[in-house]
Amino acid sequence: MKRVAILISGGGSNMVRLVEDMQAQGYASPVLVASNDAAAAGLEKAARMGVPTAAIDHRPFGKDRAAFEAELLKPILAAQPDVLCLAGFMRVLTPGFVAQFAGRMLNIHPSLLPKYPGLHTHQRALDAGDAEAGCTVHEVTPVLDDGPILGQARVPVEAGDTADTLAARVLVMEHRLYPAVLRRYVAGDRAPVLL
Ligand code: GRF
Repeated sequence: MKRVAILISGGGSNMVRLVEDMQAQGYASPVLVASNDAAAAGLEKAARMGVPTAAIDHRPFGKDRAAFEAELLKPILAAQPDVLCLAGFMRVLTPGFVAQFAGRMLNIHPSLLPKYPGLHTHQRALDAGDAEAGCTVHEVTPVLDDGPILGQARVPVEAGDTADTLAARVLVMEHRLYPAVLRRYVAGDRAPVLL
């Protein structure tokens, strides 16, 4: 069975949905949830779901991303994942790290890529007057938020929306999209999932 490791930085709501889906459908095994923040609320949620966890605080490494990643790699490689899912992971990974998981690392980004790579995606969509917004699951490549698109979900922007109300509407779709993509991805199906 395919082994899936998940990287988080915060609440891990996407991670929870991925773990629930794998445990319910049996198409893969969640073998590790790791975070760059020992206080990430998602770590406790993962532990309660019976998934091994690890936390490597990035702060002691300062600007030395490679040194942080060398530590982060230890529990990841020990878990021997076939697929690595970034789910609310807020550290930019170096090309060296990404190269080790080329073709087997996914990320969910809260915009309709290629629009709005980077941060503050919902506010940018509102500022642009977009009629719709959404989220994208893509393969991770060395260029930030830029790899092959594996799935997208769209939501309407509604009058009076704030970044928070729009984020909440998109998050509901993230929780549907990411498991749908992972299920197909571990089966070798790369056809984009469009919700
Ligand atoms: C979500 O908006 C996700 O798109 C982004 O991080 C946010 C929090 O995700 N990557 P989670 O609740 O920690 O999964």
